Amino acid sequence: MYYSDEIIEEVRFKNDIVDVISGYVRLQKKGSSYFGLCPFHNEKSASFSVSRQKQMYYCFGCGAGGNVFTFLMEYEKMSFTEAVQALAERAGVELPKIDYSQEAKEKAGLKATLLEINKEAARYFYAQLKSRRGNHAYTYLTDRGLLEDTIKTFGLGYAGKSGDELYRYLRSRGYSQEHIRKAGLINTDEKHGIYDKFWNRVMFPIMDVNSRVIGFGGRVMGDAKPKYLNSPETVIFDKSRNLYGLHRARTTKKPFFLLCEGYMDVISLHQAGFTNAVASLGTALTAGHAGLIKRYVHEVYLTYDSDEAGTRAALRAVPILKEAGISTKVIRMEPYKDPDEFIKNLGAEEFENRIQAAKNGFLFGLEVLEKEYDLDSPEGKTSFLKEAARRLISFEEELERNNYIEAVASIYKVSTDSLKKLVAKMAVQDGLAAPAIRYKKTEGRTVKKEDGTLTSQKVLLTWLIDMPELFYQIKKYVAPSDFTEELYRTVAEILYEQLETGELSPAQILDHFTEEEEHREVASLFNTRIQKLSTEEEKERALEEVIIRVKNNSIDRRMQALNPADISGFQKLVEEKGKLQSPGTLHISF
Ligand code: GTP
Ligand code: MN
Repeated sequence: MYYSDEIIEEVRFKNDIVDVISGYVRLQKKGSSYFGLCPFHNEKSASFSVSRQKQMYYCFGCGAGGNVFTFLMEYEKMSFTEAVQALAERAGVELPKIDYSQEAKEKAGLKATLLEINKEAARYFYAQLKSRRGNHAYTYLTDRGLLEDTIKTFGLGYAGKSGDELYRYLRSRGYSQEHIRKAGLINTDEKHGIYDKFWNRVMFPIMDVNSRVIGFGGRVMGDAKPKYLNSPETVIFDKSRNLYGLHRARTTKKPFFLLCEGYMDVISLHQAGFTNAVASLGTALTAGHAGLIKRYVHEVYLTYDSDEAGTRAALRAVPILKEAGISTKVIRMEPYKDPDEFIKNLGAEEFENRIQAAKNGFLFGLEVLEKEYDLDSPEGKTSFLKEAARRLISFEEELERNNYIEAVASIYKVSTDSLKKLVAKMAVQDGLAAPAIRYKKTEGRTVKKEDGTLTSQKVLLTWLIDMPELFYQIKKYVAPSDFTEELYRTVAEILYEQLETGELSPAQILDHFTEEEEHREVASLFNTRIQKLSTEEEKERALEEVIIRVKNNSIDRRMQALNPADISGFQKLVEEKGKLQSPGTLHISF
């Protein structure tokens, strides 16, 4: 952290979150909170809430959440430091000169240098493309149907044949060999010494969401292999957290993205007016990508290649997106290979027709599966329907599952009733009758089991914030160390400290975390939906249950961690657990 906790707290205190967010979102007061349309995803009814009391926002639709700093980080794409500076200025707080730690300074310095080098390289490649030497590359691109304007918009370029010209150019601009290497732009071997990674290729700069060049893809102009060469991952280039074309697609008015496989596909689609197209960076789609997409849209139309590999990739992408809460449709490109070729041959209007005719991702999966069975024979059809039923179990929400059962029944001409029975039977047979364990993926970084005990821990934290008067009762049974998740535990420690001193400030807790992703998660901890309980008795019982669950889980954890020889330690824990089981042990009253 560059600024002291005190100054950050002062800035936060002087910028009321409702006032700040009101400058961006129309908010209406409902109960103790303000509600509006979420600026982080498309929605028709307001699920974005801002609480003056908590000084936090949270969207019940997409899970975006945080304090006033997080809001600017997410909305204006600022860094934490930039958000502090912007809000200090807004409130007229004078900030001290930044006190960088040496390490942070070095890291920030390295990133900034690599970004500069990439920008210089992109400029160099672009200039080469426009020069006489790059004539054949320019012709290659225009022959492929790209317009002057498109080439400029996407900053396409050309890497020349000499072998080390980019390296020499960058050195002449004052960059060190070490930095150029760290940017992934050169290779070294004994025979050739230092040489450019990209050589006689058309260059596609890869930009992050803020339009900063973070890497390159380079394509040969003939049939040589490899067809595409991509920058290696570097401190600024993380392939699973960036998407090609996102810097332009993010401002689309459409409620969905077109997700394709190739750079050329994205460029052709944008040129044809489909400015919501993005592609992964030569890698398969990951949960990280899904999380990124989720910030902008809730629906994705897959426009993968029509060959077998593309079909398989599409089938793999559907559940990854579904897990992130994104619904999918699949667009078919037949008889052409990919969107680029499709548009070149049939035009934008016909592509729009394909968008309209897109198939739901789940049904598309069945259509592919269907080819493995002989649906004309009774056995074939039965086995197919069994497999379909198995897949239908994956819809956990009853309403959604029933809608899909109906759709499948009508497509494959069986009665809804018998398919429903088959689904129930398969669920029992596969031992899936109980809801499957859900894995919560947060942008691919952490994979966490969102099981009942974690939910209980969340509920307890929300409860503590909403009703701080319960603290002294809860404290008797649950300590911060009973929270098993590291992030939860840290939050609990700070929260307990605040509650001890009577200075509850949820938004301040967020300032202990610098990553947006952590802010999101902490915000969700404080905004767990708690069932509306009407009577005091119901509330007491519910809270007791939550406390017992958290405590039990914590005891289980400690038992597992115990040295097997520690008999007395074991007995103590068993005893502690026994106490929880007998009814009426806890004396909670509202
Ligand atoms: P064009 O032939 O130029 O139209 O390419 P495309 O956009 O149709 O690409 P293709 O479907 O062949 O591949 C899709 C994506 O996979 C490309 O945009 C690259 O990111 C990646 N890719 C393709 N070929 C290679 C390769 O040889 N090596 C690597 N590392 N990535 C590749
Ligand atoms: Mn292509």
